[in-house]
Amino acid sequence: MLECKGVSRLAGHREILRGVDLPLEGGQVCALFGPNGAGKSTLLKIMALLTRPTRGVVLWDGEPVRGRESKVRQQLGIVSHATYLYNNLTAEENLYFHGRLFGIPRLRERVEEILEKVGLYYARRDTVGTFSRGMQQRLTIGRAILHEPRVLLLDEPYTGLDQQGQAFLNDVIRDFRNAGGACLLISHDLPDAVALADKFIILSEGRIVREGSCSDMTAESFDNIYREALEVDRESGDAWAIQFRGEG
Ligand SMILES: Nc1ncnc2c1ncn2[C@@H]1O[C@H](COP(=O)(O)OP(=O)(O)O)[C@@H](O)[C@H]1O
Ligand SMILES: [Mg+2]
Repeated sequence: MLECKGVSRLAGHREILRGVDLPLEGGQVCALFGPNGAGKSTLLKIMALLTRPTRGVVLWDGEPVRGRESKVRQQLGIVSHATYLYNNLTAEENLYFHGRLFGIPRLRERVEEILEKVGLYYARRDTVGTFSRGMQQRLTIGRAILHEPRVLLLDEPYTGLDQQGQAFLNDVIRDFRNAGGACLLISHDLPDAVALADKFIILSEGRIVREGSCSDMTAESFDNIYREALEVDRESGDAWAIQFRGEG
């Protein structure tokens, strides 16, 4: 489905991403972990076609995306740090606006269905500027799935959600996966994301340092894997850490 190959990204002289290969497959949730600054959001933005890689390519069904970005964008649902909502429009109007851009058929029914699904039907006529962060996040998620994309790209999507909201988002992700969609999930809640995902990737300093299957993975065993993966990277990359270790 959506895939990036050999993707690097320079910011000035710094390499934010260094040769990342990441294929997303239908019917799978891939959890992307890593410390702050590892390059997770940059990688997601490249796959969302919001940023171009300095080197490497993004592929859709095996072919480079370049030249058919708008067509591929129709297949992507994105939740990132920006909500992409208009504060002066109501919840309903925001979805209509987005829906028209994507030429969604039977838009009225689809908008109602989504408002019910994200638990905002009661607030559909309220302007988004009056919404709490969690309500805005619910609407952002609704907006991301409105056009029935085949790929969901989620950057810390649990931000601001209450417990009920988190459970609702887990249901959305599971339904999406079970319907054959491919999902990339960035989350700092390691145990929850590992329980939900099919495979995991750990990014550190712009490189994939570990990847694997989440099946039969307990929170504890993953915690060990995560620590180990980042520790190894620190030893190879940070002279101070090596020196410190040598002394101890
Ligand atoms: N547009 C940019 N210009 C310069 N540096 C950037 C830019 N975007 C991100 N960075 C830097 O790249 C690194 C990775 O950022 P990011 O992808 O947001 O990491 P993460 O999401 O894993 O926390 C950070 O050190 C950040 O400061
Ligand atoms: Mg980030």
